[in-house]
Amino acid sequence: MKRRKELAIDISDHVLAPSRKSNKKIIASIQYLSKLFIMPDTPDKFIEFGDALLVMIREFFQEQGGIHSEISLPDLAKIFSSIDPPTDPELIVDVLYEIKEKVIRHSVKVGNPFYIGHMTSAIPYFMILIEMVIAALNQNQVKIETARASTFVEREFVAWIHQLVFQRSRPFYRRAIENPEIALGNVTVDGTLANLTALWVAREKAFPPGRSFAGVRKDGMAAALAHHGYSSAAVLVSQLAHYSLDKSMDVLGLGSRSLVRVPVNTDNQIDCAKLRRTIADLQKKNVKIMTIVGIAGTTETGNIDDLKELREIATECGAHYHVDAAWGGATLLAHRYRHLLDGIDRADSVAMDTHKLFYTPMSMGLVLFRNERDLMRVKYTASYVIRKSSVDQGRFTLEGSRKFDVLKPWAALKVFGTDGFQILFDHAFNLTADLNQLITASPNFEVLNNPQLFIHVSRFAPQDVQNAIERLRARAKKNGTAAAARKKLHEINELLNTLNTELHRAIRAEDSTFVSRTTLTTTRYAPQPIVVLRSITVNPLTTRSILEEILAKQEKMGLRLYTRTYKNRFDKLLK
Ligand SMILES: Cc1ncc(COP(=O)(O)O)c(C=O)c1O
Repeated sequence: MKRRKELAIDISDHVLAPSRKSNKKIIASIQYLSKLFIMPDTPDKFIEFGDALLVMIREFFQEQGGIHSEISLPDLAKIFSSIDPPTDPELIVDVLYEIKEKVIRHSVKVGNPFYIGHMTSAIPYFMILIEMVIAALNQNQVKIETARASTFVEREFVAWIHQLVFQRSRPFYRRAIENPEIALGNVTVDGTLANLTALWVAREKAFPPGRSFAGVRKDGMAAALAHHGYSSAAVLVSQLAHYSLDKSMDVLGLGSRSLVRVPVNTDNQIDCAKLRRTIADLQKKNVKIMTIVGIAGTTETGNIDDLKELREIATECGAHYHVDAAWGGATLLAHRYRHLLDGIDRADSVAMDTHKLFYTPMSMGLVLFRNERDLMRVKYTASYVIRKSSVDQGRFTLEGSRKFDVLKPWAALKVFGTDGFQILFDHAFNLTADLNQLITASPNFEVLNNPQLFIHVSRFAPQDVQNAIERLRARAKKNGTAAAARKKLHEINELLNTLNTELHRAIRAEDSTFVSRTTLTTTRYAPQPIVVLRSITVNPLTTRSILEEILAKQEKMGLRLYTRTYKNRFDKLLK
């Protein structure tokens, strides 16, 4: 006990205290280097540096001040602009000092409760410790020979979430969890790879091998289309689809143009009538409808498609039905919100991200298949690693070597329990409702989405301008004045776009609060592109009063900008 205390004193006095690097010259030798492998120098040093690192990390969390460091991006780039790789070894303490000064100091404080702009947010502190376990064990999930217990942790976690999504029978899961021939899903590096894996399987389902066709994996897409008699293959999704689907189409050889984006309704959900019409048109052109993708939590607006209706449509046209639940999937952990994702249990595959609403650090995705045989279509084996008779997870994954990342959501579920997640999501729901109420009540902001899953979209629009917009919208419906009113409305929206872009820059420069900015073509002004401010209210440390503070600050900045540089321009437009 005493000894540890001495070490702690040692840390603040010696390890972290130096105001500059020691620049002590190290003479590299195999004796010196091999000590770094087992533990740095001695076990004492390992503990000492470990403690020092934890102190350093805690200081980063405790630091007051801006969300981003003040340094400009070009200046930051200069810090990391040496073109030669380091030749001489350095002391660990010196490298730690450099990490503190150059990296930690200039990192974004994504866990700050005033930072409500991105899906990347606060993580529970025990996750940092779990990351240490992952690094220390250095398991490679590709094969059992490098991942014993961790393989089964992965299988267990996949089975838990599969059950949450698809709710198959308990005997089914009892069989599946221990049977290496059954693959319920893959742990992936991220949501992009989860979506790509789902479409990979869907492609194999759509174009199975036959006589004189060995399958797409061997013969390619041209042979697949010729064999099955189609002109091309399409994947249909709403216009709010994440761009990972474009990349997937590209990589799978289907071409990103074959990702057909269907318009959304006023709630940012895919328009099912338009989807049906698009399918009919494509079928007339002899296009194979390969996959229908539903979104459970659109990236920009957090809205959820009608997942039940999409099942029916996919069945009607014989397509694989995939749900991209990278954002919203985790809400299935909470009974109270399950109804929002009604129909997800009838999907053929579902993608999720754990570094989003499972509150785990970067990065891990998950793709699950309702039919336990689906992943067999993309099975690969190799004689030196994932042998035919093996139980290796790597048989089904696109990735080769893979970290033991699953330990993080596995541990998070144990520490929080589904009851804990219910509370976290209750908090997030309440925060979104609070923000919506505050923005609705504010005369100088306009709400621009109907938030379902913790994503709120609005813009700064001074009261006078909003009044003018409402008058113009009324005139746009009347014969005679419609065309002129629509033109004027368009111009006002363009000026508001410039104002909001500038406001966002001012928010970034002021740096005590953060919301993100995007451009949407699906607001009440569709199809005109509208610059919006996007808030993501999932940080358990964010409170209603913090939201009030954020809004008050941003409103003040907006009004200052408006009166100084925009009022005259709006007045001129509205004359
Ligand atoms: C709906 C949706 N799908 C897929 C992704 C891609 O996930 P990742 O960034 O983990 O690759 C995202 C990311 O934000 C997303 O919001």
